[in-house]
Amino acid sequence: MASEAKTILIASVKGGTSKSTLSRCISVCAAREGLDVAGIDFDPQQTFSKWSSARHETKKVIPSVSDFPVIAMSLNKWRGAEDVVDEHEIVIIDTPPALENNADAFLGLAEMADIVLVPTGSTHDDISSNTPYLLSLKKAGIRSFVVFSRVNRQTKSFRQARQQIAKFARVLPVEIPVAEDMHVHNDGGLTAVDIKDARGSKDVELLWDLIKHEVDL
Ligand SMILES: Nc1ncnc2c1ncn2[C@@H]1O[C@H](COP(=O)(O)OP(=O)(O)OP(=O)(O)O)[C@@H](O)[C@H]1O
Ligand SMILES: [Mg+2]
Repeated sequence: MASEAKTILIASVKGGTSKSTLSRCISVCAAREGLDVAGIDFDPQQTFSKWSSARHETKKVIPSVSDFPVIAMSLNKWRGAEDVVDEHEIVIIDTPPALENNADAFLGLAEMADIVLVPTGSTHDDISSNTPYLLSLKKAGIRSFVVFSRVNRQTKSFRQARQQIAKFARVLPVEIPVAEDMHVHNDGGLTAVDIKDARGSKDVELLWDLIKHEVDL
C-alpha cells in the first residue's frame, strides 16, 4: 500500500464557481508530472467523472493524453475517500454546491484534506455566499485558500472582491481568467492545460505550483 496521498478538496457553497474546472485542470497538471493521481467526484451531476470518461476515449485516439481514474462517490459515503487516499500519491476531490446541506461530510472531508481550495468569482453574490463558509473553515482550523476564477483582473469589482475577502481568508496569488479556452476543450475530456498556449493555461500552471508548495510536493 502506498503512503497517504496529498489530498486537495475543492469546495464552495456557491454553484458554478469553477470547482469542476479546477479539479480537472489540477489533476491534469499532477498527471503531467508523472504523479499517481486520482480524482473523486462527489457531485451527483458527475461533471468530473463524465469528463474523465471522455478523456479515456480521447486517449484511445491521442495516446499522449495523460489518463487517471476519477471515481464517482456519494456524499453519504464520504469516508470511502479514505480508501482512495491510501492508494494514490495525490487525490483531487470535487464537490457539489450547497455544502451547507451536508455539513458533516464537508467538515470530515476538509479535515481529511491537506488543503481546501475555495474557488470564487468576484460578484457580490459569490462573495456573500462564500463568506460564512470561509469563516467556518477558519474557525475549524482548516487550511483553506481562496482562488479567484472566471474573473476579469482589470475590473474594479474583482479588485474590490479580492480586497474584501483578503480581510478574513487567505487568497492565493493567482487568478484564473474568464476565457473560452477554459471550457471549450472539456467536451473531449481535455482542459486548457492540455492545449498549447491556451488562454488560462499559464495561470492554472501557476496555481498548481502554488498548491505544490502548500502541500509539500
Ligand atoms: N475560467 C473560466 N472561464 C470561462 N468559463 C469557465 C471558467 N471556469 C469555469 N467556466 C465555465 O463555467 C461553468 C461553471 O464552471 P464549473 O462547472 O467548473 O463550476 P462548478 O463550481 O463546478 O459548478 P457546480 O457548482 O454546478 O458544480 C462551466 O460551464 C465552465 O465550463
Ligand atoms: Mg461542478
